[in-house]
Amino acid sequence: MIRPRRNRKSPAIRALVRETTLSASDFIYPLFVHDKEVDEAIDSMPGCTRWSIHGLVQEAGEAHALGIPAIVIFPAIAEPLKTSDAEESYNDTGLVPRAIKALKAAHPTLCVITDVALDPYNADGHDGLVRENDKEELEIVNDETVEVLCQQALSHARAGADIVSPSDMMDGRVEAIRTTLDSEGFQDVSILAYTAKYASAFYGPFRGALESAPKAGDKKTYQMDPANSREAIRESLLDEDEGADMIMVKPAGPYLDIIAQVRETTTLPVAAYQVSGEYLMIKAASQDGWLDEKSIILESLTGIKRAGADIILTYFAKDAAQWI
Ligand code: PBG
Repeated sequence: MIRPRRNRKSPAIRALVRETTLSASDFIYPLFVHDKEVDEAIDSMPGCTRWSIHGLVQEAGEAHALGIPAIVIFPAIAEPLKTSDAEESYNDTGLVPRAIKALKAAHPTLCVITDVALDPYNADGHDGLVRENDKEELEIVNDETVEVLCQQALSHARAGADIVSPSDMMDGRVEAIRTTLDSEGFQDVSILAYTAKYASAFYGPFRGALESAPKAGDKKTYQMDPANSREAIRESLLDEDEGADMIMVKPAGPYLDIIAQVRETTTLPVAAYQVSGEYLMIKAASQDGWLDEKSIILESLTGIKRAGADIILTYFAKDAAQWI
């Protein structure tokens, strides 16, 4: 009789036949930073913190010491600095460039990734510039936005970012950022493109963390329709062609089929982002012991890796690295 259970009979044999293993080196740890001296708990994401630059450097150092190779930083920008042209996004003495410099000075081997998009800086809360069109409708304009994104990427590169990560979903931005970086001598700065970023309700808690929710409208004219998968392949082929070094699927858990399909159609490393809503659901369900937090976290991350992600962005990175 054929007995598949023989391969499950002991921890030793299960370890031998295990197809997917998590490692701290799989993770990118997303961290929030603000321009204040104190660290602040984030109400919409229990267990997460808006760090001062000092706190950020310390938290990043602890994560790095656990074997996590990279962090990505998200800034909470003070309300008075938000404008409809998002000029603060490319201020060389702004919060993000200062954070990058502090991180690289303290932890030279840590890979520092920055988010390239306008929503934290934009008075309108959109990832792109909002303009009125001929029909007096508000529109998120593509090509003007891309010019600002290039300036933003450049200012992050000048401060010492290792990877810039456009999360805005404007067309043509990867090629434009690549050309800009190359022409300014930053040919070694990498691009991790948010390639298949869906218009997802799972980003709600993150927008609470940064107070960056759109003031009007939604993000459906630039982020992808959750109902589509062929479009993810199209976006990934384009980003690869435009010079992305790595591509991303986001969110992760509800989009495992997309991760698997993109993995099949690109030769680039594929990252997946376990986003704030996925984080919050696990946190909320384990708070009163309804689910076992540690097991659920490791299972959810294993599922994302098994689907084909080479890299996982997760707010649980530090916890998971400690447990693995
Ligand atoms: C914005 C950005 C978002 C996230 C990362 N970058 C939110 C959005 O697109 O509205 C979401 C991350 C998360 O929910 O954890 N460019």
